[in-house]
Amino acid sequence: MATTPAPTEEAAGTGSAANRSAVRSLLRLWPYVRPVRARLSIAAVIAVVASCTGLVIPLALKWIVDGPVADRDTGGVWLGALYLLLLGIAEAVLFGLRRWLVARPLAGVEAAMRADLYRHLQRLPVAFHDRWPSGQLLSRGTTDLMLLRMFLAFPLTFLLVNSVTILVGFLIMLAQDWTLGLVLLAPAVPVVIVCWLFEKRYSQVARQAQDQVGDLTTLVEESVLGIRIIKGFGRHRSQALAFRALSRELRGTELVKARLLAGIFAVITTLPELAVGAALVLGSVQVADGSLSAGTLVAFLSTALALRWPVESIGFLLAMSQEAATATERYFEVMDAAPEPETAPVPRPGGGPGAGAGDGGGLRFEGVRFRYPDADPGGVPVLDGVDLHVRHGETMALVGGTGSGKTTLTALVPRLHEVTEGRITLDGVDITDMPRQTLRALVAVAFEEPTLFSASVGENVLMGAADTAGEADLRRALDIAQADFVHALPHGTDTQVGEQGLSLSGGQRQRLALARAVVGNPRFLVLDDPLSALDVHTEALVEAALRRVLAGTTALVVAHRPSTVLLADRVALLSGGRVTAVGTHHELLRTSAEYAWLMSGRTETTERENR
Ligand SMILES: Nc1ncnc2c1ncn2[C@@H]1O[C@H](COP(=O)(O)OP(=O)(O)O)[C@@H](O)[C@H]1O
Ligand SMILES: [Mg+2]
Repeated sequence: MATTPAPTEEAAGTGSAANRSAVRSLLRLWPYVRPVRARLSIAAVIAVVASCTGLVIPLALKWIVDGPVADRDTGGVWLGALYLLLLGIAEAVLFGLRRWLVARPLAGVEAAMRADLYRHLQRLPVAFHDRWPSGQLLSRGTTDLMLLRMFLAFPLTFLLVNSVTILVGFLIMLAQDWTLGLVLLAPAVPVVIVCWLFEKRYSQVARQAQDQVGDLTTLVEESVLGIRIIKGFGRHRSQALAFRALSRELRGTELVKARLLAGIFAVITTLPELAVGAALVLGSVQVADGSLSAGTLVAFLSTALALRWPVESIGFLLAMSQEAATATERYFEVMDAAPEPETAPVPRPGGGPGAGAGDGGGLRFEGVRFRYPDADPGGVPVLDGVDLHVRHGETMALVGGTGSGKTTLTALVPRLHEVTEGRITLDGVDITDMPRQTLRALVAVAFEEPTLFSASVGENVLMGAADTAGEADLRRALDIAQADFVHALPHGTDTQVGEQGLSLSGGQRQRLALARAVVGNPRFLVLDDPLSALDVHTEALVEAALRRVLAGTTALVVAHRPSTVLLADRVALLSGGRVTAVGTHHELLRTSAEYAWLMSGRTETTERENR
C-alpha cells in the first residue's frame, strides 16, 4: 500500500468503498452502451429463450418416461429422443447467435471508451499529469477497459438470463410438486446472504488489486525508461526487489480474491446439492407410495440439475460485475478530472483585453505569482510577483540560479500551468482571453528536455508548424538549428527516431527541438535553456543561426552561459521569485553581484571547455 498514489487515496476517501453502490457505478456506462442497446437487448432475449429451451428438455423427458417408456412403445421413445436432440440443437444455435450478435458492438464500445480516455488525457492540464503516475493511467486504458468489455459481454446478460432461468425453473418445479419445490427453495435465503457479504468484501479487494496493477505498471514503465540508469548504477537488484515486493502484494490480493470466490463457490454449490439430495429421497418415497409419477420425479430432478449452472455461475458473475464496477470508477476518476479551463479560473482585477496595448505590445508579465497546485499552500510561491516586459521584437535572456523558477516562468506563457495571480499579455492581450489554440500557435517553445516522438525526423520537426508547412520550411528550420546531421542519417529526414527508431545524442535532440520551435515562424519564442547539451562549437553555430531568427521574433530565452546571454538585447535576473534586475549583460555585470557571480561561474566553465 505504501506505493499507492495520491489520486487513489483521494478516490478511496471520497468514494469510501463500503457505501458505494456497484450498480450506481455501472450505470455510468450507459452513454457508451446506448448506441448498442438494441443489439444487446436482442442478444439478451435470445439468451433467455435459449436458456428456457434448456428447461423444456426435462418436460420432454417427463413425457417420454410417463408415455412411451411406461407403455413400452419403442417408436415413441425414438420420437422423443428426436425432440430432445432438436431442443439441444436449438439451444446451442441460439447461444451461438447471441455471441455473434454482441462480439462486434462490444469491441466497438471498448474502442470508443479508450478513444475518449485518450482524448481526455490529452486535454487534461499538465498539473494533472504531474500528479498521476503514468502506470495508473496506462492500466485504466488497458486492464480496466478489458474488464468492462467482459462485463458487458457476460455478466450483464447472464445475471438477467440466469435470474429468469432460475425463476422459471422454480415455477416449473413448484408446478410439478410444490412440497419438493419448497425443499429446493430452502437454501435460497442463506445463499442470498452469502452473496451479499461476498459482494461487499470482494469490491474492496477488487479495487485494491486494480490499483496494485497500476502501481506495478508504473514500476515496469519506469524501469524500462530508466534502463540506462539502472544498468549504469547496477541497480538491477533493488529494482527487482521493488518489483518483487509489488507483485507479491498483488499476488496476495489475488489470492484473497480467489479465497473469497472459493468460499462463495462452496456455499453456492453445497447447499443446493444437499437440497437436491433431500428432494431425491423425499421424491423416491413418494414414487414408492404411488403419490408421484416416476416421470414427474425425473422431470423435477433434471430441472433441478439444469439449474445448477445458472446458480453456480452467479458467484463468478457477481465477482466480474464487482471488478467491472471498480473499473468503471477508476475510468471515470480520470474522465471526471476537469480539462484545461479555456479561461482563467478566477477573474483578475484590472484585466481585460487590450489593456496595456498602448506601450508597443510584446510579452509582458504583470505581478505574476505562481504556486504549483500540489505545493504546500502555506509555503513561499515559486514566483512571487514577477514584473517583466519583453518589448516587441526584443530578445530577453532569463538568468537565475538552479531552482529559481525559470522553467516554471517559461511554462506559464503557453499556459501549461495557470498563473495563480497577476497576468501575462501578448501584444497587450491577456493570454487567458485568447483561445488556447491561438495562443499556442503564437508562441513556440523548446524545453530543456527535448522530447522526440516515434516518427520521422521531418514529422518531429514539422509538429511545430501549421499543417501547411512543407519541405522548404523544414529545410530552413533544420538549417537554423544547425541540424545538418540529419542529412547524414540513413534515410535523411525520413529516418525514424524516438523510442522505436534511432537514438540520437542529447545535443542532436536539442537541435531538433529547436528546429521544431522555429519551423512555424512563431511571433513569440520561449526557449528554456535550449543549448545546454551542445558542445561550444555547435553552440556557436546554433547561436549564429538563432540570431537571425531572434531578430524577427519576440523571445524569452533561459540562458546559463555568457555566450547565450550575449544573443539577447537585455537580460532579466530571476531571484527569490521576482525579477530583481533588468539590463544589458554589461550593465548587470556591474550592478548586480548575484548576476556577476552566476556569470563568473559559467565563464570559468566555458573557458575550461574552450581550452
Ligand atoms: N511540477 C512541479 N510541482 C511542484 N513543484 C515544482 C514542479 N516543477 C518544479 N517545481 C519546483 O519549483 C521550483 C522552480 O523550479 P524550476 O522552474 O524548474 O527552476 P529552474 O528552471 O529555474 O531551475 C523548484 O523548487 C522546483 O522544486
Ligand atoms: Mg529549468
